[in-house]
Amino acid sequence: MAELELLEYLPGDLFDGTVVFITGGGSGINLGIAKAFASLGADLAICGRSADRLEGAAAELEELGARVVAVPADVRDYDAMVHAVEAARDELGPIGVLVCGAAGNFPCLAEDLSANGFKAVVDIDLLGSFNASRAAFDQLAETRGSIVFLSAGQAFVAYPAQAHVGAAKAGIDQLMRNLALEWGRYGIRCNSIAPGPIEGTEGMRRLGPDDPSYHDRLKKAIPLERYGTVAEIGAAAVFLASPMAAYITGTLLVVDGGQNLAGSCPFGELLDQAMKSRLE
Ligand code: COA
Ligand code: NAP
Repeated sequence: MAELELLEYLPGDLFDGTVVFITGGGSGINLGIAKAFASLGADLAICGRSADRLEGAAAELEELGARVVAVPADVRDYDAMVHAVEAARDELGPIGVLVCGAAGNFPCLAEDLSANGFKAVVDIDLLGSFNASRAAFDQLAETRGSIVFLSAGQAFVAYPAQAHVGAAKAGIDQLMRNLALEWGRYGIRCNSIAPGPIEGTEGMRRLGPDDPSYHDRLKKAIPLERYGTVAEIGAAAVFLASPMAAYITGTLLVVDGGQNLAGSCPFGELLDQAMKSRLE
């Protein structure tokens, strides 16, 4: 499969016997991460709210040779996460890698954002990441496993219409550091990935209009002059969870083609235009 070519330099059995649990693993970047692990021998557990979406994703992962457990669960519901990680253990064995990828996003200026809109995103991203980590703790301690959190550039650069996302993702990164500090004694490593704009994803569909000239301009504002790919984020997650990163914990790995170096202005101006055109 072309999208997995990046991993061909790694041994195909690198994650044989490893159970990888991915929140929000039914679509987009998180499904791409799941495929990367599956192609290197891992078994997968995925959760999300839509059972149909999980079913489709599970079929794709099984085609890559993985055993798969798909559990409909909302990361905001701690009991549902406890049930999901127990189901994964019962069918596959203890979790060795947890990927906290479930997230919500929509563009909205802070003065227009309701308290519940802010809460919805913080609850899914930040509370959801804590819930998954806490629920999986015993299993991760048993395997001396690792956690990979999905952050974003909004965590460390301010973007217009993204106050809720910036707060949630910055919270995730600090949670990651605290857990790295506290859980190092159990052998559990914790790291974050901050993807830049990744082509063909729901996140990008929500933040940009269909107009191709918008995307051309945004790409020119990225030092590497292109969007990233789902496979490139999969490769970063595999690296952080692998023995190659055995002494790396508490780190934020930015995988954005240098986008943050240009600040949020190019993106912000275009996001402003996109929101205006939606209101017209
Ligand atoms: N602009 C402003 N406010 C919005 C909004 C938008 N585009 N979309 C939702 N909200 C507000 C709602 O109005 C509501 O607030 P209110 O009760 O004050 O009216 C609040 O957010 C919660 O909305 P609701 O639809 O009940 O939340 P949900 O829990 O069903 O869904 C979302 C969560 C809103 C984040 C939804 O977009 C989602 O499910 N996203 C998942 C996929 C995704 O975002 N992928 C990209 C990841 S980067
Ligand atoms: P996506 O396809 O929408 O992925 C989000 C996933 O989270 C979906 O599968 C969704 O499934 C699940 N989810 C949402 N709310 C949930 C909840 N309450 N409980 C359980 N699962 C829930 O979006 P994506 O663009 O690929 O983003 C994936 C991750 O990368 C996110 O963490 C995002 O913030 C991050 N990121 C993306 C980009 C980008 O360019 N796309 C850039 C930076 C960071 P259900 O709706 O079925 O629940």
